[in-house]
Amino acid sequence: MSVREGCSPVFRLAVLVSGSGSNLQVIIDRLHGKVAGIEVVAVFSNAPGVLALERAERADIPSAVFPLEDHDDRESRDLAMAAAIESAKADLVVLAGYMHTLTRVFLERFPHRVINLHPALLPSFPGTDGIGDAIRYGVKFTGVTVHFVDEGTDSGPIIRQEPLPVHDDDTAASLATRIHALEHRLLPRVIELVALGRVTPPPQGSRLVRVDDSQPSQIQW
Ligand code: GAR
Repeated sequence: MSVREGCSPVFRLAVLVSGSGSNLQVIIDRLHGKVAGIEVVAVFSNAPGVLALERAERADIPSAVFPLEDHDDRESRDLAMAAAIESAKADLVVLAGYMHTLTRVFLERFPHRVINLHPALLPSFPGTDGIGDAIRYGVKFTGVTVHFVDEGTDSGPIIRQEPLPVHDDDTAASLATRIHALEHRLLPRVIELVALGRVTPPPQGSRLVRVDDSQPSQIQW
């Protein structure tokens, strides 16, 4: 069974952010109200004052901040955020630069409906500095991963990956420029595929996500 069941005409996204939100911007520019019935219905951040929230405001998308300090612990913060996502009736939760892990109480509410973008070829270089870690290790290839989210750090079943060569003279900054360009193509395509019901989560006991990418994308670049 795909993530999308019953195919209602609107596919509602909640996007979780922590920082600049360049990926959120691409989702707004290329998908929101344009492709596969996708609408960004909410943007939630763990951090106040980040550029991603400004981007949401500019696009007239409701947003809210859920700082950890306002709650007793991670579970209660995540439960508050889950309630907001349920109120927004989101079909899919997209972590686009969201830098906190999500607790079980959150993930249980949205089985196979939370995806994350990561700037490395997982399982290599999980965590908050996938680009810097790849440079420091000296790998010759890195890349971008989109995966279902589980309770671990960047450890859920992989939906799609794209590789990228690392040049000998790359710095974290130069590599980040190419990684972000790749992310800005890959994440919207994966969201489109999920919205169209072409991504099948793994059955119990497996990690294999099936993706039907046989039809051309409707995204205008
Ligand atoms: C992106 O590079 C994303 O892959 C990374 O945060 C950046 C957010 O950029 N996420 C992770 O490292 C998650 N482990 P953005 O705020 O400009 O979209």
